[in-house]
Amino acid sequence: KNKTYILAIESSCDDTAAAVLDNDKTLSNVVARQAVHEEYGGVVPELASRAHQQNIVPVVHQALKKAGITKEDLSAVAFTSGPGLMGSLLVGTSFAKSLAMGLDIPLIDVNHMQAHILAHFIDEEGYDKPKFPFLALTISGGHTQVVQVDSYFDMTILGQTLDDAVGEAFDKSAKILGLPYPGGPLIDKYAQSGNPKAFKFTKPKVDGLDFSFSGLKTAILYFYQKEVAADPDFVEKHRDDICASIQYTIINILMDKIKKAVKQTGIRQVAIGGGVSANSGIRKALKDAEAKYGWKTFVPKFEYTTDNAAMIGIVGYLKYKDENLQDSGYVETHARAQ
Ligand code: KG4
Ligand code: ZN
Repeated sequence: KNKTYILAIESSCDDTAAAVLDNDKTLSNVVARQAVHEEYGGVVPELASRAHQQNIVPVVHQALKKAGITKEDLSAVAFTSGPGLMGSLLVGTSFAKSLAMGLDIPLIDVNHMQAHILAHFIDEEGYDKPKFPFLALTISGGHTQVVQVDSYFDMTILGQTLDDAVGEAFDKSAKILGLPYPGGPLIDKYAQSGNPKAFKFTKPKVDGLDFSFSGLKTAILYFYQKEVAADPDFVEKHRDDICASIQYTIINILMDKIKKAVKQTGIRQVAIGGGVSANSGIRKALKDAEAKYGWKTFVPKFEYTTDNAAMIGIVGYLKYKDENLQDSGYVETHARAQ
C-alpha cells in the first residue's frame, strides 16, 4: 500500500484531539482533556473554546511527532465540521483550513456522528469489523442515536433522544447523588458492587426508536429528596445499590430500543460508540444478547469510544480514497446540551 498520511483534528466539545493515520491504521491519537469543567459540573462553552485555543498547536505537534512524520509528509487534513459547540468547532476548523491551504493539500470535512460509527473501521490487530448493513448505537454525553448503516456514508437515523443524551442521564443522576462531573464512570464503578434491583425507577414510554431520559432524571431527584428527608445518610448507606439500580434502568432503556431496532430491520449486527460504550453494564448486556439472540456485537477499543481524532481520521481516509463518496445528508442534530 502507498503511504497516505491523514492528519485529523477534533474539537467539537471539550477535548482537543489530533491524530495521524497511515491509510486505515492509527499512528498517533492524542487527546488533551479539559479539566477546567469539572468544578462547574458540566462543559462551559466559553472555557472550552479558550482551552482549545491553548491546546491546538501543541496537540497537533505531538500527533505528528508520535507518528514520526512532519507536516510536509501529509496527504490531507480532516477536521470535524459538526455537530458540536460553535466556539469549539471554530478552533479546529480554522486551524485545519489554514494548514491544508498552506500545505496545498486536500481538506476533508467530517461529521462527528458518522465518525463515532466509522471508528469501527480503523484497522486494529485482531479487531473484527462490522459488515454492512449493521445497526449503530451512538451513546455519549452529547448524543443518543440508533442508526442503520448500509454503507460507509449511507446512514439512516432510526431513532434518537428527544431530550437529554444518555451520558447526561448518567452525569445528572451522579450530580444529584453528589458525585463529581463527569459522574458516568463513577456510577459504573459503584454499580459493580451494588444490587441492580434494589430500587425501581420507571422507564419512560416513548414511541418507536426514540429515547427520553429527562423523566428518569426527575424520578431520581424525587427519590433522592424523599429518601434523604427520611434519612440524611441514605446515599452513603446505599450508594452502590442506588448506582446499580440507575445503571440497570438506563441499560434496560437502551437494550429495549436495540431489540426493537433489530426486530424492525432484521439486522442482527450491533455496534456501539461514544463515551457511554465504556460502561461495563452495556458491554455485558450486549455480550449476553450475542449468546441469547445470536447477534454479533462490536465494541470499539476504549481510546476510540470517547471523543478522539482517530475516528475523524478514518472518515477522512475513506473520503480521501474515493472522491465519489458523498455525504448522504446525514442530519446534524442534538449538539451537546449546555
Ligand atoms: O463521547 P464522550 O467522551 O463525549 C461526548 O461526546 O459527550 O462521552 C462522555 C460521556 C459522559 O457523559 C460520561 O459520563 C460518559 O460518557 N461515560 C460513561 C462511562 N464512561 C464515560 N457513562 C457510563 N459509564 C461509563 N463507564
Ligand atoms: Zn462524541
